[in-house]
Amino acid sequence: MKVLHVAAEVFPLVKTGGLADVVAALPVAQAVQGADVRLLLPGFPAVLEAVHGARTVIDIGTCFGALRVRLLLARMPGSKLPVYVVEAPYLYRRGGSPYQDSKGEEWSDNLQRFALLGWVAAHLAGQDADPQWAPDIVHAHDWHAAMACAYIAEHTATPAASVLTVHNLAFQGLFPMHDWPMLGLGSHLMAPTGLEFHGQLSFMKAGLKFADRITTVSPTYAREIATHEFGCGLDGVIRGRGTDVTGILNGIDPELWNPATDPAIASRYDAERLQGKLACRRALQAELGLDVDEQALVLTVVSRLTSQKGLDLILAALQELVQAGVQFVVQGTGEPALEAAFRMAQQAHPGRVHVHIGYDEARAHRLVAGADLIAVPSRFEPCGLTQLYGLRYGTLPLVRRVGGLADTVTDATPDALAQGRATGFTFDAAAPAALAACVRRAIALREDAAAWRGMQATAMAQDLSWRGPARDYLALYEGLALDPN
Ligand code: ADP
Ligand code: GLC
Repeated sequence: MKVLHVAAEVFPLVKTGGLADVVAALPVAQAVQGADVRLLLPGFPAVLEAVHGARTVIDIGTCFGALRVRLLLARMPGSKLPVYVVEAPYLYRRGGSPYQDSKGEEWSDNLQRFALLGWVAAHLAGQDADPQWAPDIVHAHDWHAAMACAYIAEHTATPAASVLTVHNLAFQGLFPMHDWPMLGLGSHLMAPTGLEFHGQLSFMKAGLKFADRITTVSPTYAREIATHEFGCGLDGVIRGRGTDVTGILNGIDPELWNPATDPAIASRYDAERLQGKLACRRALQAELGLDVDEQALVLTVVSRLTSQKGLDLILAALQELVQAGVQFVVQGTGEPALEAAFRMAQQAHPGRVHVHIGYDEARAHRLVAGADLIAVPSRFEPCGLTQLYGLRYGTLPLVRRVGGLADTVTDATPDALAQGRATGFTFDAAAPAALAACVRRAIALREDAAAWRGMQATAMAQDLSWRGPARDYLALYEGLALDPN
């Protein structure tokens, strides 16, 4: 089975969120299970730097407004997985975020930048880009790669099937209708039955309409996006795809996120030797200038600071949480208003609240290892990865019961505790009082050291690896190859 993963991000080269972690790990896990897997990425500066020595597969020439487009083939620096890179300096050679300029505005030529990515994927599938390799399955991730599905559907000679994974339906790749001619697609697709979405062009809709199968990153989110509440206007399209839409939970890289070997943390530990975790907690309190207080419950957040993540609930409840004995540590970047509010919270609670506005992988590991709880109070969450890191590090997740959070955290109810199933704390209402009540439950439960240790052991014993999900995706591909309709 030959599989091409198409995406805009891959850890550690280009990352704005969990998508990059998934694209780094899932293809490798599939290769371990015997699939012939390759990646296709845009030639952003960090990607081109990492893959020097790449060979040119085909000189594409001028397309999507770029004069000099080439398709390169190299290997990923760490995993050695083969990676195709679309080199198009005019479209991709620029600093900052892959999607936005330094002012936070979407790049004005995102339509060309990401249509090109999908178009190249379709040509690889059509066997006219690389004479030596063509995929059976094109697996497109999020709107950035979704046009691959439309180009493949138009390319009738292509035997390959396409799969779209929706990592976040809130980001859709919307463009003005008058840019339609740049896509080079038949005008019959310029309609609500095609890419048109309320007078605009939608790349995500292209994927949802034309992919042979659609997956999302958790079973609960797969159900949620078929509803008006979570469907971001596309719930009708999703319902229209019926059983073609399924959810497969993300995994994590158990080597990268392993408290027994993690070079970034103060002291290594595992479920049998949890003293190391205490040392991490003390080291974190000292590093961040928090009161070195053994009684405090250290609650952390590592996150994009956006309304999706529900962090305003923590801000609203913070006074009460601090009074109840919580030390709160947040690391993130995002909306200026949230950044400013967290900075003010730090000033208001010296020694109890620490805020780091920034992006830092190693520091994220120290926060996850040193905290008692990791909070993910999201309004919606397709899967979420930081609660999984928390499970792996015995840092119990406290999450809102939505999307992948509902599928990965078992609330500490009396029943779940008695049966040894509890791994964290969940709440339902997106309201500060519901979050605060959930934190108070955690504080009360921590009084029972044996119960807490039991939950840590259960959390740390979860199989969070990519083995199962990689197998599930391969089974889905096999089904498509057997039944192309
Ligand atoms: P999303 O993709 O919606 O942002 P996920 O939980 O799936 O949410 O993935 C977020 C990823 O980004 C995780 O790997 C998390 O550790 C990382 N991350 C987010 N913000 C930061 C930050 N400020 N510093 C370091 N890592 C971060
Ligand atoms: C998205 C989602 C997040 C998910 C990640 C990786 O960014 O917001 O929930 O974990 O993609 O699939």
